[in-house]
Amino acid sequence: MDPFADQRHEHDVILRVAAVMARLAERAEAGAPVDAAALRLVDTFLAGFVHGCHHRKEEQALFPVLATKGAQIKAGPVRVLSGEHEAGHVLMERLRDAGARADATAAGKLLETYATLLRSHIAKENEIIFPLAAALLTPAEKERMAEQFEAVERELDEHRFHREMETAVERLEAAAPATPPPAAP
Ligand SMILES: [Fe+2]
Ligand SMILES: [Fe+2]
Repeated sequence: MDPFADQRHEHDVILRVAAVMARLAERAEAGAPVDAAALRLVDTFLAGFVHGCHHRKEEQALFPVLATKGAQIKAGPVRVLSGEHEAGHVLMERLRDAGARADATAAGKLLETYATLLRSHIAKENEIIFPLAAALLTPAEKERMAEQFEAVERELDEHRFHREMETAVERLEAAAPATPPPAAP
């Protein structure tokens, strides 16, 4: 069993929302007013799924065991990735404030900054951290990590929670659909 498969799937869902955030940022940059409903959905997803579920799993179950694998790993990648989670939390709160003030310029910049952070953070985890952890963790440590991931899911009332998050993602994609590629000549 690969305990990272679920984490990679969660990354795919987060990247869908990062794409929506980048599109909302482009609209704000083009002078559109704040779409308050879309910003509330972004906040629901960031607070619920990104910080309340995905980052929580990594902070509780992945980073601590990875930090035991060497002082350089603890002081390097684990510290960097934890710092990015914290930076994301600050961005989420500032975005919430910008939405409450209906400040489209600030909201647009924050959406773009957070979408960029999410993409680079996820690329580091997918390409470097998960393969590193897969190589360094013992089978027992991987099993324990998977159990801790499941414990977080149970705390969240997983079925209701994931339905709510999926609905938020679908509504966001409907509110800011990707521009279709230009028709071939
Ligand atoms: Fe992370
Ligand atoms: Fe992650």
